[in-house]
Amino acid sequence: MLSVAVIGSVNIDIVARVSRLPVPGETVTGATLSRFPGGKGANQALAAKRLGADVRLIACVGDDASADEALELLREGGVNLSQCRRVGDATTGTALIAVAPSGENHIVVAPGANRAVTPEATQAIQADALICQLEVPVPVIVQAAQSYSGFFCINLAPAAEIDVTVLQRADLVVVNETEADWYGRSLDACRGVVATTRGSGVATIERNGEIIAEATPPTVDVVDTTGAGDTFTAALVIALVEQQAPEEALRFACAAGAVATTNMGAQPSLPDREQVLAYL
Ligand code: RIB
Repeated sequence: MLSVAVIGSVNIDIVARVSRLPVPGETVTGATLSRFPGGKGANQALAAKRLGADVRLIACVGDDASADEALELLREGGVNLSQCRRVGDATTGTALIAVAPSGENHIVVAPGANRAVTPEATQAIQADALICQLEVPVPVIVQAAQSYSGFFCINLAPAAEIDVTVLQRADLVVVNETEADWYGRSLDACRGVVATTRGSGVATIERNGEIIAEATPPTVDVVDTTGAGDTFTAALVIALVEQQAPEEALRFACAAGAVATTNMGAQPSLPDREQVLAYL
């Protein structure tokens, strides 16, 4: 079985369904409130597990009630949490999310314990693939990129300054179109491939600035887009490490990301492999 390590965030998502997203300075009332386990690292770990990989999550949570709630679906799903550390003087990461009827969202994250992940946590990782995002401190990612020798994926979300050595080391960089604009030409430093998602539009994989694969996500009834990019990332890593051709791998990842939008909440809506294949 393919093995995947994920270094990343664990959050509790506090989600308000609103009739429309507020503009700055505006109050929108009438929302309904829910809580879901989330965090880009945790979502990607559970997505990879549901798609059939053996998964380990390297992360930090607070020593509070939200920690158990945030880890519940990972535990139930069989993600290895032996390197998930409780931090005494921090709260579990929290994301405040507003979701519109179109499925679009606004997300504000209070990282809390995610800030306590240290570069030491990245030592001696043994897995076929390592996935990182930018909700843990950048020095952790820099160290992971240096010390890990397998298939290395960096999902540059949320957009933040990143050391060029990380881009140079990456076998796969994943960005959405907003992040792609934010990073601009700096993504050219990637010596592997760059995958760009564009919501329901055409996703691409580029190598050396040349498009080598394109795919359009299947049409679905979108309820909540939270976690779609995380699902796409995990699925694309698995498909590429399985040696699927870029076009086939991208179609698989697009289908996985699309299925993840059909229910509320990031983790409750992560698909298993059969659900994804049904859309292909
Ligand atoms: O990518 C979606 C995730 O971003 C949410 O689950 C939220 O926790 C934020 O980290």
